[in-house]
Amino acid sequence: MAVGTVLVTGGTGYIGSHTSLALLENGYDVVIVDSLYNSSVVAIDRIELLCGKRPAFHQVDITDEAGLDAVFKEHPAIDSVIHFAALKAVGESGEIPLEYYRVNVGGTIALLSSMTKHNVTNIVFSSSATVYGDATRFPNMIPIPEHCPIGPTNSYGRTKSTNELIITDHVEAQRNNLRKAGKPFEQWNGALLRYFNPCGAHPSGIMGEDPHGVPYNLLPLLGKVATGEREKILVFGDDYDSKDGTAIRDYIHVMDLARGHLAALNHLRSTHPGVQAINLGSGRGSTVFDIINAFSKAAGRELAYEVVPRRQGDVLDLTANPALANEVLGWKTELTLEQACEDLWRWVQNNPKGYRQEPPAELLDAVKAKAKAA
Ligand code: UD1
Repeated sequence: MAVGTVLVTGGTGYIGSHTSLALLENGYDVVIVDSLYNSSVVAIDRIELLCGKRPAFHQVDITDEAGLDAVFKEHPAIDSVIHFAALKAVGESGEIPLEYYRVNVGGTIALLSSMTKHNVTNIVFSSSATVYGDATRFPNMIPIPEHCPIGPTNSYGRTKSTNELIITDHVEAQRNNLRKAGKPFEQWNGALLRYFNPCGAHPSGIMGEDPHGVPYNLLPLLGKVATGEREKILVFGDDYDSKDGTAIRDYIHVMDLARGHLAALNHLRSTHPGVQAINLGSGRGSTVFDIINAFSKAAGRELAYEVVPRRQGDVLDLTANPALANEVLGWKTELTLEQACEDLWRWVQNNPKGYRQEPPAELLDAVKAKAKAA
């Protein structure tokens, strides 16, 4: 018997695929919905190769409430949702904000509405540390605790903070309405997971990040410099108030992040806390130059860079205070930045075309041998 059945929206994406795998490995059944707008269905095959279990998959857009209704109807065992499906390019969100609100906010409303009709009452939401904006505008807010005031600096971030409010209002209203009616209400819960900078890949080398089009995040871009697809990385500003002048982020291995989702889901289902915002970060800040050095080491050569002016909307420092996650979820990061760089390099080097090519036979053989031994 499965521990429970979870709907994972955006489950073929980067964080969604690693989280779906963690759920399956920990006794959950998984149903994935994804529009495949920025991901590949091949991720499902890789999940199955790695754990021997295949998630159910439905190609449904998150804004399609009737499509979501049909999925809940077909899988009545679903009792919880982990909600990733969203657009996530910060720069693009400033050019087409309406589209970002339509998909990210409209999609969350469609999902909550469909969940409510089908009595699915736990939601783990993929939020972002970007909801804090520039935390250095307040004294003593680095590393950033959850009570730091919200103030995103871009439209993408505002869709995330808006969704946090919508989920909070809806879950609290459901609890209040049921309580007033004398009915059980504690089944309604939400975790707003504010991730810092996810990076790395599955250590097998057969699952990782494969965005369509040009990546814009630091580590995937460095991967392209390391394979020679790009000549150099542009460093956005070396005039920040940091040890080397470049901006500080809290990089977290995607395998740790996946475990964080599992811990949050278990927490909601066992302690019924209502709605909680929780940081998922390591508490360790790294500059852009730290990352270039760490990835150069993993790739075995110096990667070329050029310093250019700051990127609009960037902030000096996003480093987490992860104490709450540690306390309430019993979770903390276990993997290092060096491991993330090594795992990312294994993925990039062996799959330069991402999921549009088969991984090398020796990697697949190693995965199969491991599965047999287990
Ligand atoms: C951004 C968002 C985050 C979002 C994530 C989505 C902000 C503040 N953060 O993270 O909410 O979830 O994207 O993927 O909007 N850099 C370079 N050269 C590059 C690329 C990046 O120097 O070519 C620097 C950036 O200035 C930054 C760091 O590297 O200091 C990390 O950048 P990136 O990987 O894009 O992530 P964030 O901007 O932190």
